[in-house]
Amino acid sequence: MSAEPGITIDSRYVITAATILDNQLHIDWADGHHSEFHPTWLRHQCYCETCGTPLNGVRGLRLHHLPDTLEPRLESFAADVVELSWLHDGHRSRYTAEWLRDHCYSAVEHARRKYRPILWDATIMDSCPSADLLECERSPAERLALLEHIRDYGFAYVRNVPGTIDEASRLIEIIGAQRHTHYGNYTLGKKKSVDNVGDTTTALDPHTDESYRTSTVGITVFQVIRPAADGGHSTLVDGFEAVRRLRESAPDEFDLLTRLPITGARFDPAANSGGNSKWYSTTMPMIRVDFDGEVCGIRMNERQIMPLDVPAELIEPAYRAIRHLFEILYDPDLRLTFPLETGEGLIFDNQRVLHGRTEYQAGNPPRSVLTNSVDIEDFHSTLRMLTESLRGKLPPTRLPQGMVR
Ligand SMILES: [Fe+2]
Ligand SMILES: [Zn+2]
Repeated sequence: MSAEPGITIDSRYVITAATILDNQLHIDWADGHHSEFHPTWLRHQCYCETCGTPLNGVRGLRLHHLPDTLEPRLESFAADVVELSWLHDGHRSRYTAEWLRDHCYSAVEHARRKYRPILWDATIMDSCPSADLLECERSPAERLALLEHIRDYGFAYVRNVPGTIDEASRLIEIIGAQRHTHYGNYTLGKKKSVDNVGDTTTALDPHTDESYRTSTVGITVFQVIRPAADGGHSTLVDGFEAVRRLRESAPDEFDLLTRLPITGARFDPAANSGGNSKWYSTTMPMIRVDFDGEVCGIRMNERQIMPLDVPAELIEPAYRAIRHLFEILYDPDLRLTFPLETGEGLIFDNQRVLHGRTEYQAGNPPRSVLTNSVDIEDFHSTLRMLTESLRGKLPPTRLPQGMVR
């Protein structure tokens, strides 16, 4: 492969040798890495016109049409490409060096692709991730920086938000398409009949929202329309850091909470539900770990835990673990407090970061905070599209998937 003058080629993506050994494709790379690719894996990922691609879902290839033992032949290789043919049918497959390296499933490359969030506690208060909505609207780079804050820290504080319901979509659509649920555009504030704790004036302990949904809230967008005269400050806690502390101090309790089925339920009367009463109930663990055993999502709302339905001998250890977890979550050392004014907002990942509120005095006019949300996959989609358009290439990164395995 020859480079244009002045263009440097990343040695990660330069093939120095390619061979077939025991039907596996072996590749040596200019940076010293060695990759091995299984023939079925390679044949399944042939993206030629006949085979199709997984990205558009149009794929003609069917695994059961392939022989049990696939025999690849190395037709040719160069620094930037490998060409194979398949003995049973003569089909030819072509793989670029960049694609092969970005998808190499060796332990080293698997770990490298994994995105690791930055955990935090109360000490980041003075340097917490922030953005300005006007800047984000003007500059795609600023918009990407905001999305990356949410990816890295699970939240961002935002200035210059409209502060009116009419223009609320400006901030929401920076993140992705607004999710519509039975709540509609919900404004938290003191109401005549309180069926939602967000509408009370007492302090609210840190919690995640809507633990009663199978597809729970992804990214929450708070916009302050009118602050309380006194108090009513928003609080945030990094659930991933809390869970790290639990895992460190009580690994057995952590393990139990990754498996223990907890039912979160919610009855919403018609007044809260646009005229249609709703009765939700979902059973899931509080902590989700991925295939690598790493935490990728949490759902924790002490107020919505229904009766445990587990073997009798688990009741005591379960309550001990839940109580210990909430003691960590309510530790002020983990909590950020934001005395938000009109025109300020918070965006946070509801499957990582818990939110709460300090007590306040019901004033006149009353406190009013608009809450909306965007699904995690929609946020990830916005992040991918903007990254690729600004940086030219999407790095091969796997993001935490939230409560979904
Ligand atoms: Fe909430
Ligand atoms: Zn093909």
